[in-house]
Amino acid sequence: MDDERNEMDERVIDVADVEVRFDDVVAVDGLDFAVRRGERVAVLGQTGAGKSTLMNLLIGALAPTSGSVRVAGLDPVEDWSAMQGKIAIAFQGPRLLPWRTATGNVAVGLQVLGVGREQRTTKAKDWLRRVNLGDALDRFPSQLSGGMRQRVALARAFAVEPEVLLLDESFSALDEVTASRLRADFLRVAEEARTTSVIVTHSIQEAFELGHRVVVLRKPAVVAHVYTSADHDLSDPYAVAHLRHEVHELMA
Ligand SMILES: Nc1ncnc2c1ncn2[C@@H]1O[C@H](COP(=O)(O)OP(=O)(O)OP(=O)(O)O)[C@@H](O)[C@H]1O
Ligand SMILES: [Mg+2]
Repeated sequence: MDDERNEMDERVIDVADVEVRFDDVVAVDGLDFAVRRGERVAVLGQTGAGKSTLMNLLIGALAPTSGSVRVAGLDPVEDWSAMQGKIAIAFQGPRLLPWRTATGNVAVGLQVLGVGREQRTTKAKDWLRRVNLGDALDRFPSQLSGGMRQRVALARAFAVEPEVLLLDESFSALDEVTASRLRADFLRVAEEARTTSVIVTHSIQEAFELGHRVVVLRKPAVVAHVYTSADHDLSDPYAVAHLRHEVHELMA
């Protein structure tokens, strides 16, 4: 019984039997989705599958029509203010403030949490160094490349040291070399901080590289399959081709 309870406690994200309707459109139909502490779950799905809707449920931007959503033991809609600092999201477009330097942009989330100026500046610089932006601390977004801006967004999300980190297509607008470096940075930091994360992506390669588990969603946000990354060898091109085919079939 105790073991069972501990197991339950470990569920940092717990979405149970959730339905979301927009008028006559069913966007989510009976979704069950759980993520344990320190676990990274990648979510794959075609356009319209319900990935962003799931993210919106987790950050409390959307209430389920029925069913329950719990993040870090809280209801993201009801307990919205208590959730601040517990959850962070990095969007596909980095959404930086153009009049603030890289450091100022990373410090913003900490400022919202009431962290003092000196401490938030120190923290922001520290996180920028961790994503290899140590030489761009005082640059404005217009002076940064797209990949650098995405790094700033990632540093901003990590800086609040959230229990839960959500990435919505964070690497997809970048060239492959930059994306692969940034994925490596993300993995290192997520491991160090034992951050629980959900990574939405269209890339099968990325999903298996970043996620301990890979959840394939099919419209309307139905779990078509769950893979355990460790069971798949991505260095074997035949295995990758087979996996790619299988995932495409599942998403269709
Ligand atoms: N505010 C809304 N009003 C009406 N329908 C909506 C709304 N938001 C989402 N939907 C519908 O819900 C479904 C899921 O949308 P969602 O944005 O979650 O898909 P997605 O998986 O994120 O797609 P993409 O890969 O294109 O970002 C779609 O059919 C979409 O049209
Ligand atoms: Mg989306």
